[in-house]
Amino acid sequence: MPPVLRRVLAGLAALGLVLVALGCAPESLFPPTHQSTVYPETDAARLILDVYRPITWIMVVIFVVVEGLLLYAAIRYRRKPGQQGNPRQIHGNTALEIGWTIIPVVIVIAIAFPTLRNLWALAIPEDPNGEALHIKVVGKQWWWEFEYPEELGVVTANELHLPADRLVVLELTSDNIIHSFWVPRLSGKRDLVPGRSQAIWFTTPSEPAMYYGQCAELCGPSHALMRFRVFVDGPEEFAAWAAKEAGPTVVPSTMESDGPAAMIAGGCVACHKIDFEGSFFQSRLGPILTHVGSRSTIAGGILDNTPDNMAEWIRFPERLKPGALMPNNDWLTDEQVDTIVAYLQSLE
Ligand code: CUA
Repeated sequence: MPPVLRRVLAGLAALGLVLVALGCAPESLFPPTHQSTVYPETDAARLILDVYRPITWIMVVIFVVVEGLLLYAAIRYRRKPGQQGNPRQIHGNTALEIGWTIIPVVIVIAIAFPTLRNLWALAIPEDPNGEALHIKVVGKQWWWEFEYPEELGVVTANELHLPADRLVVLELTSDNIIHSFWVPRLSGKRDLVPGRSQAIWFTTPSEPAMYYGQCAELCGPSHALMRFRVFVDGPEEFAAWAAKEAGPTVVPSTMESDGPAAMIAGGCVACHKIDFEGSFFQSRLGPILTHVGSRSTIAGGILDNTPDNMAEWIRFPERLKPGALMPNNDWLTDEQVDTIVAYLQSLE
């Protein structure tokens, strides 16, 4: 074996070892990240990974072979000392050309089988007994609205609660431009297209947990700030959450009380709904705030729900989320902002 070839093979072996080591690395070295498709938690996400994994390994083999041949040729046939002129020029090689036409065709056909099989498996499953939980997801500029079935009567924003171990069908649409719903560990991506509804499904994990989601379609200056969270709850927790969310706020509120009055002065009433007896806060332009105090985040999942963050958000939404429909309110006095924040934080 020529020494060059030996060196190339040694290099390839080392590369292979590194790849295998990465593939076999314990989770402690590469913990499942919050938004990782290679740590699926649902049946639907596993169907996707079942296609993704073999394709990835086929690509790794192709990469190693092609790069190996390239390196071998570059080193083995490099210009030697004293060599003059161009090397011998070669044109056309029928065997090679047939080979590199047929091999890709075979690979594409091999990939097509699992792809089609799982694509069909991902069609919305029949649900004759109506066991699935159907939730309408509306992409907003730039946040998410989740509308639960009528019998639950829940509409909420940016934090999707789901019962554990339940078939869920999400019906996706948008009231502005195209967005894309993506919770990598729960399902694949699906666009939210204005004027039409497209669905995805998955069976929620059996253990309560939180999963990160993200808009996956470039939709404007705050595309990267269009986040959301999915909370998988135990059955009792979910029922309790839904019962609370469906009702009006438990904070005693009247139109004259400090919080609502300050929110009218601030113009918040034009866009937000807060449900209490005799409430004028009925607009659905912005996120519903009836139970906003119980959410872990605000502003489409970009800020932890703390009084300071909320005050900053009320004053400068255009700075924190460029292009957001909510205008800056830096003209409000500190006292007004504090009153609004204290009221909203109390809305559990
Ligand atoms: Cu919505 Cu990107």
